[in-house]
Amino acid sequence: MLNFLHMDPITNPYAPGAGSRPPELAGRTAILRDVNIRLQRLRLGRPAKSVMLVGLRGVGKTVLLDQIRKDAEVEGMQTVRIEAPEDRSLPAILAPSLRLALLHLSKKEAARELAIRGLRALAGFASKLKLRYADIEVGLDYEPEPGLADNGDLEGDLTTLLQQVGLAARAAGTAVVIFIDELQYVEEPQLAALVSALHRCSQEGLPVTVVGAGLPQLRGRMGEAKSYAERLFDFPEIGPLTPQDAAEAIVRPAQNEGVEIEPEAVQLIIDKTEGYPYFLQEWGKHTWDIAPRSPIRKEDVQNASEEAIAALDESFFRVRFDRLTPTEKRYLRAMADLGPGPHRSGDIAEELGRTVNSLGPTRAGLISKGMIWSPTHGDTTFTVPLFDEFMKRIMPGDDWKAAGN
Ligand SMILES: Nc1ncnc2c1ncn2[C@@H]1O[C@H](COP(=O)(O)OP(=O)(O)OP(=O)(O)O)[C@@H](O)[C@H]1O
Ligand SMILES: [Mg+2]
Repeated sequence: MLNFLHMDPITNPYAPGAGSRPPELAGRTAILRDVNIRLQRLRLGRPAKSVMLVGLRGVGKTVLLDQIRKDAEVEGMQTVRIEAPEDRSLPAILAPSLRLALLHLSKKEAARELAIRGLRALAGFASKLKLRYADIEVGLDYEPEPGLADNGDLEGDLTTLLQQVGLAARAAGTAVVIFIDELQYVEEPQLAALVSALHRCSQEGLPVTVVGAGLPQLRGRMGEAKSYAERLFDFPEIGPLTPQDAAEAIVRPAQNEGVEIEPEAVQLIIDKTEGYPYFLQEWGKHTWDIAPRSPIRKEDVQNASEEAIAALDESFFRVRFDRLTPTEKRYLRAMADLGPGPHRSGDIAEELGRTVNSLGPTRAGLISKGMIWSPTHGDTTFTVPLFDEFMKRIMPGDDWKAAGN
């Protein structure tokens, strides 16, 4: 029976997927401890910078954010988690989660009055700002208090609202930590309002903060939004795992299922994936499914590679590719022709037989879609690891060069 020739796919521990909790969260102990200390300091009203996790696609920002949140909850902190989609306003995504946090705080006797005042602030905030941000939809539990967070100006009103949240949190002996994923999609004026509101709260030692995650461009965007953003936040770079951590991410989950992997096989997985977490999960999964028995050998990894790449092409890479216009695809294909990057704008333009200026809008569009970013002025590189190789697979040959410009 064929079944006997393979390991049980049902117990396959690996978990490729956006935000999928990995069987082993490798290499993140130090940062977890660091952020935990910061949040505990914040709760005590001690100075502590919050963090913005920045990194390429698939490095594990979301699962790290989730773990930080779990740890914070274990410590008794009040957390909310939101994701900034490309097309929604920050006040719209903040309002419902702040409401939940405030309702929760209002259950504590010591914080009740302040939390209710926070809910009044929220009512003023939402009803006034709805004129500008029509997508705000939030249940209102109390009448607004005239003059409280109802100026209709995002920066001022958000400041007042977060101050109220902070006061209630302090009275409850906790901290409110707002986790925001994909923060690079928030528009700059809204980002500026958020940074400014948090700055005020921090000056007053109020226990309310944001822990964020986003693509590498987030750092520059926050700095442009408010020059003092760097005094308020650190921007730890979340990257591929070291070979040692990558080995752990592969070996531990197998061992927990009673399966061994030969060191040469582990090494080949590390080589193929360059330690990128998403790729590690994909290679782990397919190697497991293809291997006839424990121990898993190097040739099993070799045999699984084609399927791992095909799976990535159909999911991880494909979802990004499908959102591109033909012009954007050609731009990325030209970049791929030059290699992994970063590349000078002039070189990309030359590759396309165009001028840098005429390609400006295309490049800007790709940055706002989160496909590329600019590590230094005039340089461009992919936000998706190994995207150059994917582009060559999906648009092979030279035909793309001939396609109309
Ligand atoms: N430290 C880790 N060890 C092992 N696997 C991990 C680790 N971190 C993340 N992964 C795995 O990597 C994949 C991607 O994780 P995640 O979705 O958190 O990345 P991301 O940085 O948020 O990506 P994106 O920018 O696309 O949102 C998941 O399958 C997850 O299980
Ligand atoms: Mg993510």
